[in-house]
Amino acid sequence: MAEPTTTVSALRWRDGLELLDQRLLPQRERWISIGGAAAGTRAIRTLVVRGAPAIGIAGAYALAVEARRNPDLPHLRRAARRLATARPTGADLARAVGHVLVAIETAPSAERFERALAAARGLHAADAAACLAMALHGAALFPGEGVALLTHCNAGALATGGIGSALGVVRGVHAQGRLERLYACEARPVLQGARLTAWEATRDGIPVTLLPDSAAASLMASGAVAGVVLGADRVAADGSIANKVGTYALALAAARHGVPFVVVAPTTTFDLACPTGAEITIELRSADEVVRLGRRALAPEGVTVYNPAFDVTPPQLITAIVSERGVARPVNEATVREIAP
Ligand code: MRU
Repeated sequence: MAEPTTTVSALRWRDGLELLDQRLLPQRERWISIGGAAAGTRAIRTLVVRGAPAIGIAGAYALAVEARRNPDLPHLRRAARRLATARPTGADLARAVGHVLVAIETAPSAERFERALAAARGLHAADAAACLAMALHGAALFPGEGVALLTHCNAGALATGGIGSALGVVRGVHAQGRLERLYACEARPVLQGARLTAWEATRDGIPVTLLPDSAAASLMASGAVAGVVLGADRVAADGSIANKVGTYALALAAARHGVPFVVVAPTTTFDLACPTGAEITIELRSADEVVRLGRRALAPEGVTVYNPAFDVTPPQLITAIVSERGVARPVNEATVREIAP
């Protein structure tokens, strides 16, 4: 088969870290140069870059940039701590920043930047390779012709260092000439599905249909989709996963209608030290994301808002978890451990 590819990327190194400002998509493509760890931390918090693996890689490069600016070890340790905690739910960020910090701590002062950069580049390349491996494993779960898949949020090239996790699988099926259509939920309130997944798919010639989140259950009931494929921000030891809010509702609907529900996540997203989904910290974000669209008010001033960025789906509702090391199916503690790092 033709190898799945993409024309899209979230980040690049051009004598410094540059991030595609995802807040502006799909209207504008603007690359932002990240001058150090503080700017990297801000970019992660404000969703310039988002998606668990991409956040991790961006954090790793941002720490390398900081090591060039100021190689003082206590300073870099503080910067690493702030970067690692910029967003709490995804597992990749703290792991990637920690990896670069170890490279810095074990290097002579004059070599800290080069070692940090090499470590960040290594993480970036490993994630790109993981995406390709997951595309192959995942595509095999959806045999036959005319495969229609439903996804949520954005688990694509914009969210990883390669072709994407869930969207990598979609690209894999597409490269095999078997994809009928990708259905993308819009992912209220930040609209990663509408703004990012629909843009990414359109740009790469993947047939895509956008739907409101509330239309997903009836779409599944109609029999139109062969499966749901999505990413994860953290995979707990028992196979629970945290992912974009709305994932749990999709899993319930998929179970009700007998639609395979497949989670695609590199092993950098696995956290075996986290026993179950109950221990995953769910990031609560600002009310503004729900009550405003740009400057326009969507709700009465001062209304109370509940805006968790993620939710937890238990293993019983997940048909399979795909990592670059293989497929956990059924999903339980033993099968997750087999494909974990
Ligand atoms: O808030 P976001 O946009 O960072 O949320 C992203 C998701 O929930 C993705 O589905 C997840 O990070 C997997 S990306 C490969």
